[in-house]
Amino acid sequence: MSEELLESFADNQFLEEPAIEFRGVSKTYPSGTHALEDVNIRINKGEFVFVVGSSGAGKSTFMKLIMREEKANTGVITVNGFNLTKMPRKQVPLLRRTMGIVFQDFRLIPTMNVFDNVAFAMHVVGKSGNELRREVSKSLSKVGLGEKARSMPNQLSGGEQQRVGLARALVNAPDLIIADEPTGNVDPNMSYEIVSLLTEINKRGTTILMVTHDHNLVRDFKHRVIMLDGGKIVADNAAGGADE
Ligand SMILES: Nc1ncnc2c1ncn2[C@@H]1O[C@H](COP(=O)(O)OP(=O)(O)OP(=O)(O)O)[C@@H](O)[C@H]1O
Ligand SMILES: [Mg+2]
Repeated sequence: MSEELLESFADNQFLEEPAIEFRGVSKTYPSGTHALEDVNIRINKGEFVFVVGSSGAGKSTFMKLIMREEKANTGVITVNGFNLTKMPRKQVPLLRRTMGIVFQDFRLIPTMNVFDNVAFAMHVVGKSGNELRREVSKSLSKVGLGEKARSMPNQLSGGEQQRVGLARALVNAPDLIIADEPTGNVDPNMSYEIVSLLTEINKRGTTILMVTHDHNLVRDFKHRVIMLDGGKIVADNAAGGADE
């Protein structure tokens, strides 16, 4: 291959649009804890990334900065084309519309059935009527819960509840799904099922960022792995990398 061609390849790689970019980002909580220190990372659209590291390493803080649940003290964060550092508070809902969020503790509304829990996420962005019903049904079938639409959350297993959480995250067709230990409260089989679902969603183009403590998942699903320790990125291994 000619040198020019190689260079243009490299350029193209460089021009690939990032879903998430951190440049010199630090986060110190008001308590004085340095949760993240000088983090630099780039995650391109369409990637699936596991975020790992011991307790207190800064993983949840990293996720909260991406959702703009917390603000960085220094550095620049870009997510789905938004500059989070400069973004006024009233624009945060616009950012959130580009992402689906899956929580470790599911966070379903206990007084609403499965269908309404998912539909609620569409109401919030102003959708209603036939479009809403169609998309909610599609989303529930994707996670294998088409039959459970009328069930209440307390009638579901943990794994089923988390799949409702996943359907809710999916229903607005987000560019990015972020999940902080989504398998933390489900059994190992269901964990595999949830990550398989996320992997399928990723294959259709959605960027996925998932925090996990589960080494088996990280080993078996060959995705990029970012490791945090003491608020710093200490490893960043490409999908199916040399560690395998
Ligand atoms: N709201 C907060 N106020 C003060 N300190 C905080 C806050 N949230 C987190 N911290 C501290 O920041 C550091 C990083 O916490 P973080 O929650 O990001 O860790 P984590 O990697 O998600 O850990 P875990 O695996 O236990 O969930 C820890 O020392 C934690 O005590
Ligand atoms: Mg955490």
